[in-house]
Amino acid sequence: MSDTLIAQARALLSNTHGSTQDAQSTAVFAPGRVNLIGEHTDYNDGFVLPCALAIGTAVAIKPRSDHIIHTVSRHVAASGLLRDKFAIDRPIDRQSKDFWGNYLRGVIVAMQQSGLRFPGADIAIVGDIPQGVGLSSSASLTVAIIRAMLAMGRSSQSSRITAQQIARWAQWSEHHFADCQCGLMDQMAAAAASPGEAMLLDCRSLESRQIRVPPAITILVAHSGVERKLATSEYNLRRQQCTMVAQRLGKTSLRDIDIALLSTRANDMSELDLRRARHVLTEGTRVARAVKAIENEDPFELGRCLRESHDSLRYDFEVSVPQVDALVEHLNHTIDHEANGCGGARMTGGGFGGCVVVIVKSSAASAVEAELRRYLSSRVAKPLVLTTDQTLVATA
Ligand code: GLA
Repeated sequence: MSDTLIAQARALLSNTHGSTQDAQSTAVFAPGRVNLIGEHTDYNDGFVLPCALAIGTAVAIKPRSDHIIHTVSRHVAASGLLRDKFAIDRPIDRQSKDFWGNYLRGVIVAMQQSGLRFPGADIAIVGDIPQGVGLSSSASLTVAIIRAMLAMGRSSQSSRITAQQIARWAQWSEHHFADCQCGLMDQMAAAAASPGEAMLLDCRSLESRQIRVPPAITILVAHSGVERKLATSEYNLRRQQCTMVAQRLGKTSLRDIDIALLSTRANDMSELDLRRARHVLTEGTRVARAVKAIENEDPFELGRCLRESHDSLRYDFEVSVPQVDALVEHLNHTIDHEANGCGGARMTGGGFGGCVVVIVKSSAASAVEAELRRYLSSRVAKPLVLTTDQTLVATA
């Protein structure tokens, strides 16, 4: 939970950089997210429906009298400390490919490019989102660091900064310091989602609306056991494929294309391009249906949306993997049996491994969760299942 993590980050700052009694120290938190539906639609200017999680990243910070940024970072599940140290008044380099500190360096460069200036700082980071599972550990990290830098500034410059601006700096860091051409969903969820609700986000206007998930619907999240790294997956290729189809149809993004237009131009396109575009267009309609289903407290229809989304991601967009497909199929059978089909499961996040999200009518949630844990325990070394407390939505 965020209070515990914040206390841990403060303690880490105190242990590694002197006393937190220092009146100038401050600490902030940014959550991870699970996306209910609207996958690979954000960079096509479409709609997404993520929820903030209770897990995330806490950052404690205090200014230094020089120009050095000195950072220590710890994941709650790891024993070691990661460190980074660089001068903020000189050009900030990106380090080797997999260096964790690139995210931090990238957001500071992005903020400097917007004209913000900072003193040096001692920073301590503590996070509890497992990495490589599709729950946005990097967006949580980058947004938390930005909030911490702004909180340290405490000047008029920080009070005018919007969630959209924070998300854009965090995205810039991913694009330029981590090789991932991601959309804005994860960063917007970390910067603007309200705990306990889903956030319907229009990725073109960046307008959002909070959608309350009723207690009758429970959300579970489980890791398939397959770790993935988006920057080295085909994620960037999928983005290029979508842009190419839109351009071929004379539009800037797939948001401006509907199924009818796509079908009339089918002969000009490869079968592969058609399938990629078809996923994005049909996913858009599923987001709208899913919002209605949540508002109508209808776990059956919401479950249909998730199941169709998974099939579309599996066959048309081709971003799933066999272990995830098997877990989703098993969960759907379990929901049919335990909940009369009132729910469904699908992969969540960028794909190529990672987590599945499950929605189920709350009266059957504990039976489905028990079967989920049993299934994973014989296949995955350290099963990860997030339940109501950690997904923050739906209290049965
Ligand atoms: C990753 C990216 C997001 C989004 C999803 C797929 O999480 O960071 O921008 O594209 O994949 O929906």
